[in-house]
Amino acid sequence: MGFVVLIDQEKCNKDGICVSECPERAIEMGEDGYPKATAVGEQQCINCGHCVAFCPTGAFGLATMKPEDCDPVPEGVSTSMEEVDALVRNRRSIRTYKKKTVPKDVLEKLIGMACYAPTAKNLEPVHWAVIYDPEEVQRFGGMVIAWMRAMRSRDIKSIFPDNLLELIISDAEAGNDWICRGAPHIVVAHGPNDLPLPASPTACTIALTTLEVAAPVFALGACWAGYFNAAINNYPPMLEALDIPGNHDCHGAMMLGYPVYKAKRIPVRKKARITWR
Ligand SMILES: Cc1cc2nc3c(=O)[nH]c(=O)nc-3n(C[C@H](O)[C@H](O)[C@H](O)COP(=O)(O)O)c2cc1C
Repeated sequence: MGFVVLIDQEKCNKDGICVSECPERAIEMGEDGYPKATAVGEQQCINCGHCVAFCPTGAFGLATMKPEDCDPVPEGVSTSMEEVDALVRNRRSIRTYKKKTVPKDVLEKLIGMACYAPTAKNLEPVHWAVIYDPEEVQRFGGMVIAWMRAMRSRDIKSIFPDNLLELIISDAEAGNDWICRGAPHIVVAHGPNDLPLPASPTACTIALTTLEVAAPVFALGACWAGYFNAAINNYPPMLEALDIPGNHDCHGAMMLGYPVYKAKRIPVRKKARITWR
């Protein structure tokens, strides 16, 4: 759909906020005082919706995004320091999960939240592959171990220092799951590898980070599945089994489920290393 600016002149107070908020110079004030598309608007608009979101009177619309399409920002809701702490500093990687699946609609809500994470040029390149069936998760975990066995003969010190590979393989043979940690579900973020910037790796990382931080709101825990993701991108049978499009790469996998344990302390982390200039 082309870039079409729709102004409700009865509501527009000509404050120019839409122009200030546009990151791409797609809008300007017209001679009549109402906002209009610039000559480069069609080419430049990234559909970020700031013109619509920041208009205080609801006058500004795009053909692709009308004010009535957008949820209102709730008034009077503020987030306390304690609540942010609970989500950010109390976030922990969860490695012991209940043997209980998460309803699909809950996963959909959580992933839906992660879709509001920022993306370069608002390209929104993130796609999600959810391995929902816990038995499938185990089958995929077995494929990661198969990949690790195939890697034994190669020089892979950069990924697996010392004897880590042997340790993970022998532990898997003894029934200890380093790969998926017994999580019932795995979520993989992937995106096109032919975008400018390149946009997909960063977007997937931020989206998965958002998902991990938001998970406790649904009583869920998460953990990055780094070995899993390394295997996907290096072991074609996994890419095929996940049915990832040929022009996509995977940029992160995450375990998800209900945690068994609750942390009682926040582990010590390095102090922020800041240089002021
Ligand atoms: C990119 C990435 C990959 C990771 N891969 C794994 C993994 O495969 N298995 C695992 O148990 N933890 C994995 N983790 C979790 C880290 O070990 C964990 O974040 C770190 O030890 C700090 O603990 P915390 O998340 O509870 O603060 C990964 C984390 C990141 C950011």
